[in-house]
Amino acid sequence: MKARVVSTGSYVPEKILTNFDLEKMVDTSDEWITERTGIKERRIASPEQATSDLAYEASLKALKKAGLKPEDIDLIVLATVTPDMLVPSAACMLQMKLGAKNAVAFDINGACTGFVYALSVAEKFIKTGASKRALVIGAETLSRFTDFTDRSICVLLADGAGAVILEGTRKNEGIQVIDIFSDGTMWDFIHMPAGGSKMPVDEKVLQERLNFIKMRGNETFKVAVKTLEEVVDTTLKKAGITSSQLGLLVPHQANIRIIQAMAKRLELPMEKVMVNIDRYGNTSAASIPIALDEAAEMGKIKRGDYVMLAAFGAGLTWGAALIKW
Ligand code: ACO
Repeated sequence: MKARVVSTGSYVPEKILTNFDLEKMVDTSDEWITERTGIKERRIASPEQATSDLAYEASLKALKKAGLKPEDIDLIVLATVTPDMLVPSAACMLQMKLGAKNAVAFDINGACTGFVYALSVAEKFIKTGASKRALVIGAETLSRFTDFTDRSICVLLADGAGAVILEGTRKNEGIQVIDIFSDGTMWDFIHMPAGGSKMPVDEKVLQERLNFIKMRGNETFKVAVKTLEEVVDTTLKKAGITSSQLGLLVPHQANIRIIQAMAKRLELPMEKVMVNIDRYGNTSAASIPIALDEAAEMGKIKRGDYVMLAAFGAGLTWGAALIKW
């Protein structure tokens, strides 16, 4: 039994924050952001939108495309580092909003690798027969945890959601190989110091702005490039194919330079790499499913194509999935 992708959906909030808007907020420039990251603009959730609201919009689109009702879903796995609240899970909030009364719902925190983590978990449920039809989502409202006085991070992070529906199949299609990894020794490369059990929010936290995400960008960059190249290589080898057989690479959208380095190493022309970082920035767990949905909508993926997903993020975490569409 394999797990195949039945449909995809995505949603980004209406509000656009451009590099020029950021020039008025911190000491930065459109030129620096574009050259160093590839980002031109990003989306920001409205004050009344929480992560489950973005996830809801993306899920509705995926359900509609598949011609399914929320009751047809028996598993909801939502990857996020920005749930609506610490308790309950954003997945349960989404379940309620959808009315997916036949599903079991839970969150996964794999940071920017979250969607590949969630896909891996859902795939196991499908393969074992524990789930017939799963809704897998990556959704983030990172703007709520972004320090808009810190130029090293506020130009990168953004909001959005993407979803896929998985179903079992006896045919040789769907997820061929999926591998996820973590290394907690580098936990402090990307982290949010306060707001959890280690450091509850108090006056000092607010003064020192410790309730926002911090990143050691340059060190993260170096590990990301090396690790992503390795994980894609291993996944190709496990599947017994070469990079020239890939129809499309859908990488996590963290930095255009990381994406270009991967493409070069894999000898893939950029036409075979999905890039939308210019419009959406880094939406963490949402970036891959948004890019996958856009690629599908743009006709960049044909039936039978090999599609490689590859992600890297806080934890540190990383992973890749090879899907036969
Ligand atoms: N505008 C202008 N200058 C800036 C800005 C900015 N927004 N941000 C930093 N700078 C300055 C720095 O202060 C530094 O100045 P200095 O040389 O005078 O000290 C200079 O630019 C270079 O800074 P670096 O941090 O070395 O720049 P780098 O080229 O590494 O780019 C970036 C920074 C974009 C963050 C990059 O390192 C990166 O993309 N890192 C990896 C991100 C990633 O993959 N994250 C994983 C997923 S994220 C997640 O899980 C939430």
